[in-house]
Amino acid sequence: MKETYRFQHKHILGIEQLSVADILHILDTAISFKEISNRSIKKVPTLKGKTIINFFFEPSTRTRLSFEIAAKRMSADTFGITAATSSAKKGETLIDTACNLQAMNPDLIIIRHGSSGAPGLLTRHIDASIINAGDGTHQHPSQALLDMMTIREHKGSIDGLKIALIGDIAHSRVAHSNILGFTKMGADVKVAGPATFMIPHLDLLGARVCSTVEEAIADADVVMALRIQKERQNDPLIPSLREYARFYGINRSRLKHAKPDALIMHPGPINRGVEMDPDVADGKGSVILEQVTNGVAVRMALLYLVLGQEGGRAE
Ligand code: CP
Repeated sequence: MKETYRFQHKHILGIEQLSVADILHILDTAISFKEISNRSIKKVPTLKGKTIINFFFEPSTRTRLSFEIAAKRMSADTFGITAATSSAKKGETLIDTACNLQAMNPDLIIIRHGSSGAPGLLTRHIDASIINAGDGTHQHPSQALLDMMTIREHKGSIDGLKIALIGDIAHSRVAHSNILGFTKMGADVKVAGPATFMIPHLDLLGARVCSTVEEAIADADVVMALRIQKERQNDPLIPSLREYARFYGINRSRLKHAKPDALIMHPGPINRGVEMDPDVADGKGSVILEQVTNGVAVRMALLYLVLGQEGGRAE
């Protein structure tokens, strides 16, 4: 007898917790929700009566707004606080703040925090569902899912693709989630960047470290550049941005090594002229703004599934 699939996750903390079936289900759900954003009235009643708090301790444009738009398009009540406008500024601990949020009985808290593991810590102290919207250098699972959705829309499947990630792998939570996700879905992942931007044992995550960008992007189906995460570096790890752009920047000349129909991706925000030339970011093959559009659909799917709206999640 065929077993029926059920999404079982109360929290989304990292890509490693998701099976291939979970990822495909999230992406299929996101595709089914995507057209809601193209309607003249962009609202469905699916999450009516649910309370969602966006708690962002670090700056964000895309993630915060797309979670908020996703929640509002599904009729949830959403509330946002930042570290700067919360009592964290007066010395309240993260756990105390979270327990006080819990006392107001939200269904879901979406958190971005500078410390790796902060969302996981909260799951041990409060009852609401938690979605990790980026924690330190650890993970950014919803970004990896929207990246997978974008690739799948263009290439049909992630299985068997050659994907190159270029830049600051060590400090990029996007890189860590994407390496886990892409390899889980059957892609061949290569990375390149300055040695100071690499971490030991990337092979254990499933990625191959290349000594040049050209080697990493040779015959690639997807080329993703990553921002230098200056906010997570105590001392400069590269001699200069100009030198970085010369050796590691994605430009038209370097892209000749990739497949002619390679997708050009970047999680944003872009440092134009550093990790990617403007004519690449805005030119042929770039799906950077499609990634942002898909961010709303993926986050609608995550809210829907995590809140158990599909038919009851096992606790
Ligand atoms: N990609 C991403 O996380 O962007 P924001 O920092 O603007 O949310």
